[in-house]
Amino acid sequence: GRRLIIAVDGPSGSGKSSVCRAAARRLGAAYLDTGAMYRAATWYCLDRGVDLDDEAAVAVAVEELPLTISTDPEHQTVTVGECDVTESIREARISESVSEISTNRAARALLVAAQRRIIDQAGVVVAEGRDITTVVAPDAQVRVLLTASAEVRLARRGLQMGGGQPAEALQRQVLARDARDSTAVNFTEAADGVAVLDSSDLTFEETVDALVSRVESVR
Ligand code: C5P
Repeated sequence: GRRLIIAVDGPSGSGKSSVCRAAARRLGAAYLDTGAMYRAATWYCLDRGVDLDDEAAVAVAVEELPLTISTDPEHQTVTVGECDVTESIREARISESVSEISTNRAARALLVAAQRRIIDQAGVVVAEGRDITTVVAPDAQVRVLLTASAEVRLARRGLQMGGGQPAEALQRQVLARDARDSTAVNFTEAADGVAVLDSSDLTFEETVDALVSRVESVR
């Protein structure tokens, strides 16, 4: 069949993952969560006791990373070696350390190459992250920056975590991580040719609809 790449970037709490997974289901497309790859790399470094400040040691570990990630939107699993890390890569300890991996240039280059290989093998794929529209797949037929106001993103992340988190803790997790991540990639403004989809005033379904109709218009 025809190849089609749908590239979606955005900050944390923008709803990227759930929106992209739902859009992939509706399109019968593969789904690639590149953030999960940075998280798996972080899990592996922590598991092996790698000093995250040691750039060379991090790069070696990421080079050796025995990562498998499923691209089935119905069945997201991430494994490192024999270990199913699908759940554990979502832990706070991973979110707090992941920027140390994603700001490591050598680690980024390795993960970007791996992402390109996965995208090349998929026919139709929705790939999401921070640098998909700009670095990983700038030639994608559909390129979208999914945004939402900081207020909305904090509220969504709070709900996702079950509610009841102190506001400062959420701000630290969401906004501080974005600030750290921004030093490696620019995902706060759309590059040339990238459409902004602001979901602040949209429901989840409306956001999925908006993404899917962009895809239908190029299909
Ligand atoms: O999307 P998610 O919040 O799971 O991503 C986890 C982390 O992975 C981000 O905070 C960022 O440091 C990194 N990341 C990245 N480039 C991507 C996807 C994620 O640097 N394309």
